[in-house]
Amino acid sequence: MSNVHLINHPLVQHKLSLMRRKDASTSTFRTLLNELSSLMAYEVTRDMPLQDVEIQTPLETMTGKMIDGKKLVFVSILRAGNGILEGMLNVVPGARVGHVGLYRNPETLEPVEYYFKMPQEMEERDIVIVDPMLATGNSAIAAVTRLKQLSPRSIKFVCLLTCPEGVAALQKAHPDVPIYTAAIDRQLNAQGYILPGLGDAGDRIFGTK
Ligand code: URA
Repeated sequence: MSNVHLINHPLVQHKLSLMRRKDASTSTFRTLLNELSSLMAYEVTRDMPLQDVEIQTPLETMTGKMIDGKKLVFVSILRAGNGILEGMLNVVPGARVGHVGLYRNPETLEPVEYYFKMPQEMEERDIVIVDPMLATGNSAIAAVTRLKQLSPRSIKFVCLLTCPEGVAALQKAHPDVPIYTAAIDRQLNAQGYILPGLGDAGDRIFGTK
């Protein structure tokens, strides 16, 4: 698991446990996800390149450091990925946003793309793909494969939760893509849910169940 970054900051772990609880309301779940996403954004952007910028303080001129947020693209895997966007954008408001929509073909079980919208000039950008759950890894693999066709500068994958099966699948298909997660749970069940997990992330974010 060399390319896996476990974000074990106490605040992240605390909020994740609150979110997992089955009696957390939709609004609590969403608020916590928002807060957690901002905290995760700190870790994911830790190695972002800085540029020297001439600035004027009230006293004199100096060379400050700034990131170029516009080079960063958060790519949400629909629909649950959208739950992570707001918290990340609070930390990097200049970032661009892309969306990938995939559904599973019931016969082949392969992911099929139904939506794909990205900013221009992707070859100059660093991509952070967001999806709360890395479970079977099928959507993540399909999204990374598709995004690589645009030759971005880099790709990272961020989730709240994953499992050994999901990590192994994504790493096998795309060993160059680092995975950032707040937890690696015990296992995937036969229905493709993570155990102990937190249930269906999309339903919990949007209150659809
Ligand atoms: N997607 C979810 O929302 N939850 C899981 O446990 C697995 C995939």
